[in-house]
Amino acid sequence: MTSLVVATSNPGKLKEMQAYLDDFRWELTLKSPEIEIEETGDTFMANAHLKASQVALAMGKWAIADDSGLAVDALNGAPGIHSARYAKTDSDRIDRLLGELENKTNRQAKFVCAIALANPDGAIALQSEGICHGEILRIPRGEAGFGYDPIFFVPEQSLTFAEMSPEQKISLSHRGRAFAALLPQLATLKI
Ligand code: IMP
Repeated sequence: MTSLVVATSNPGKLKEMQAYLDDFRWELTLKSPEIEIEETGDTFMANAHLKASQVALAMGKWAIADDSGLAVDALNGAPGIHSARYAKTDSDRIDRLLGELENKTNRQAKFVCAIALANPDGAIALQSEGICHGEILRIPRGEAGFGYDPIFFVPEQSLTFAEMSPEQKISLSHRGRAFAALLPQLATLKI
């Protein structure tokens, strides 16, 4: 079984990747905690490349990385690649975003997820991107999920991400779409 390092130290992310990659005979492992990666890219894809490539090189194994976040039109794409660092906690991040959007009528936003797979030499072998368009509500709704989920409303479903079942969210989220685009490519990869 080929081993695939997930370029994260977060066991939750490893579990999520395992669910998406269930059909593949990879043995998924976490990256060594000593490997620190500076996310210096200025796009989601550049950061996914950096993470996959550096972890693959450091460990001499195939590595997969994702990078994601929320881009709000009225804020010129912010918080974007800074989504995780926008404030200290999920609720602080939501408060900050709602504060910055207080007087804005344009509530359009999108979640973006970039995924990259690097071979043991650090070269990028595959990449994919998924986008989910929505609107930022003025008041959070729903209890499920994490991050900005309670304020991200998807008009086609009339639900926020935090009001969706896990299956619903997977089927239309940026991450679900990025994996859906990656899986057929993975199936053709000769290792
Ligand atoms: P990363 O991909 O782990 O770097 O995630 C970046 C940040 O974007 C997270 O910490 C969340 O704040 C936000 N984010 C990414 N995906 C989602 C999502 O599906 N729901 C809510 N927030 C998300």
